[in-house]
Amino acid sequence: MISKQIKILPTGQVAILTIQNPPVNSLGSALRVALGKALNEAIADPGVLAIVLTGAGKLFSGGADIREFNTPLTSQKPLLRDLISTLENSPKPTVAAINGIALGGGLELALGCHYRVADAQASFGLPEVKLGVLPGAGGTQRLPRLIGVEAALDIITSGDSINADDGLRYGLIDQISVGDLVQEACQLGLLAADSTEGMRRLSRGPVAAPKDPGVFEVARQQAGRRYRGCMAPLECIACIEKTLTSDLDEGLEFERERFQLLVNDDQSKAQRHVFFAERAAMKLPDADVQPRPIKHVGVVGAGTMGGGIAMSLANAGIPVVLLERDQAALDRGWKVMKDNYAASVKRKKLDQFAMEQRLALIKRTVEYQDLANVDLVIEAAFEDMDVKKEIFSNLDIVCKPEVILASNTSRLDINVLAAATSRRSHVIGTHFFSPANVMRLLEVVQGAETSPEVIATLFNLARVIGKIPVLVGVCDGFVGNRMVSPYTREAHFLLEEGASPAQVDGALRRFGMAMGPLQMGDMAGLDISWAARKRMAPTRPAHIRYSSVADRICEMGRLGQKTKNGFYRYEEGSRNPIPDPMIDELIKECALAAGIQRREISDAEIIQRTMYALVNEGARILEEGIAQRSSDIDVIYVAGYGFPIFRGGPMFYADTVGLPEVLATIERFHAEHGELWTPAPLLKELASSGRKFSDL
Ligand code: 3HC
Repeated sequence: MISKQIKILPTGQVAILTIQNPPVNSLGSALRVALGKALNEAIADPGVLAIVLTGAGKLFSGGADIREFNTPLTSQKPLLRDLISTLENSPKPTVAAINGIALGGGLELALGCHYRVADAQASFGLPEVKLGVLPGAGGTQRLPRLIGVEAALDIITSGDSINADDGLRYGLIDQISVGDLVQEACQLGLLAADSTEGMRRLSRGPVAAPKDPGVFEVARQQAGRRYRGCMAPLECIACIEKTLTSDLDEGLEFERERFQLLVNDDQSKAQRHVFFAERAAMKLPDADVQPRPIKHVGVVGAGTMGGGIAMSLANAGIPVVLLERDQAALDRGWKVMKDNYAASVKRKKLDQFAMEQRLALIKRTVEYQDLANVDLVIEAAFEDMDVKKEIFSNLDIVCKPEVILASNTSRLDINVLAAATSRRSHVIGTHFFSPANVMRLLEVVQGAETSPEVIATLFNLARVIGKIPVLVGVCDGFVGNRMVSPYTREAHFLLEEGASPAQVDGALRRFGMAMGPLQMGDMAGLDISWAARKRMAPTRPAHIRYSSVADRICEMGRLGQKTKNGFYRYEEGSRNPIPDPMIDELIKECALAAGIQRREISDAEIIQRTMYALVNEGARILEEGIAQRSSDIDVIYVAGYGFPIFRGGPMFYADTVGLPEVLATIERFHAEHGELWTPAPLLKELASSGRKFSDL
């Protein structure tokens, strides 16, 4: 696991300890034992003057082994903090030679060293907050002592990495290697061993107060916005604040307590579930299939979705040909894209040069013929089967034989589109989420005849453009939107039964959703689901309960934020939903017409009705094989629908509540509200056999 090498250099002897634990050099129990032994030997060896710690392969270390958390292995000695204190208290200079990535416990190990040298590609971060924990091996105490409270607050509460230049600027590293990293680290170690200045160690006393005492409050507010409802960022801030009043040992003790609290909490378990779920979703069903290279992409439609997709591709350096029906529509779309990029430049997220480079990658056209040589076309036209079929048959004529044809439909049947072409195996769905240049989720929809190579190619492209691809099957709405239907249905029923829009949305926001379903409807535009309901009206069974609230709102011309009113009203230039008494009246009328006796509705009922509607539909989706894993559904909801990461996604949430309890409540709803609540057979099977969705 760890290879200990003693390299004899011309000027003396250095023990080079190389962390070797593929794939990410994580610091699991076996590795810690080996590292502890190697460190103690090097310290005891009179021939060794200095110790260099580095990582094998492309990275230094990805941190503690997350899979060992909440298992006995995590408390197996030596603990990470023991190793760090051995490095720090070593009588011989210790130098971290940081090759590539140093994250979490990996960076904390480097912070225990007396010196840090990194290569120019190195990056450093303490991403524990994203896993619902905090840097638990001294990171919250040593980083502020090394680089100051303000910079440490930024790094620890964001969880984001910084690069080598910033590392040097902050004083996190001592030098950037210009040649052989390990050789330079050895030289630094030997120089230090030779020096008469004494061992360089971080101060054990409290750190200097920040210039602005308000920084902690600002950090708390920022964390509240970014990690809505998560406990970990607040605990991180408390630990950093502790450095102002405590010495290192006291601070480390405080940090350890807070870490234990977090690691045993359901929030962190949920966040770690999402970490592994994302990685599982990104794995191809057939790992041996090779993706094809995608060098040029055509995008059909320069509206909100098409523009966002074109930007995502250009952001990754992929040339795009953007096709619209007419010049006016093309110009409108182009202006929106330019404005979006300009806004990023204004916010200093992008420089002017990068903006121009990206825009230059997007060629605009109104001629299908210009798509003749692209490797992939993503159609993002109006959501109408006839419109899309016509586009696909045109593409079939002009594009080269091996082209992949993808549709950005959010619910239409990919097999029908494939049938409009002469190459069904090359047709696939790519459901992006709005805004497509920002949202990380991509539902990759596999048609009945889509080839494994085409799926592999889209998965690879997704990774290149920074998306999380999740493979789903064909059905109305695929996974995400299919589940949204019963979720919003229940929200509308709850209105008729006695809740107000603000109460439904408020309860779900307090549960952790980024937005409630009614506010989300107003944002997306109420006409979209209205059109779908009208389409389905002729086949809707008359005996099934149907809420006419949303239809009545649309009939009044209230289509959501774009008309300044929907379930709420909006003031000019504001997206802030304001409750509207007119809607309360309308809801009462609908309830009366449907013969519903309105009553007091509790927040708990709102959560159960909406969440269990998601879970029951999710179980059916799993049964039908539309999703491959229950954790894929969780990824879709967390990455695409604002589901709170600290609850791990709807299926993980149901596992946390306990499937027997979820089923009992659904059976009660079934008895009270009728067949829309028929429990999914898979849910019954799991609950009765004492299993969970995660056991599937
Ligand atoms: N522990 C256990 N497994 C890990 C891991 C970790 N810290 N980091 C990654 N893995 C696993 C992944 O699950 C994946 O496993 P799989 O092949 O079975 O699916 C495999 O390693 C490869 O991971 P990626 O696909 O993510 O590889 P990439 O090359 O794309 O990314 C990485 C590498 C940037 C290191 C990324 O894996 C990552 O961000 N890892 C997590 C880093 C992190 O959060 N570290 C903090 C850990 S907590 C900690 O250190 C606590 C301490 O303060 C006490």
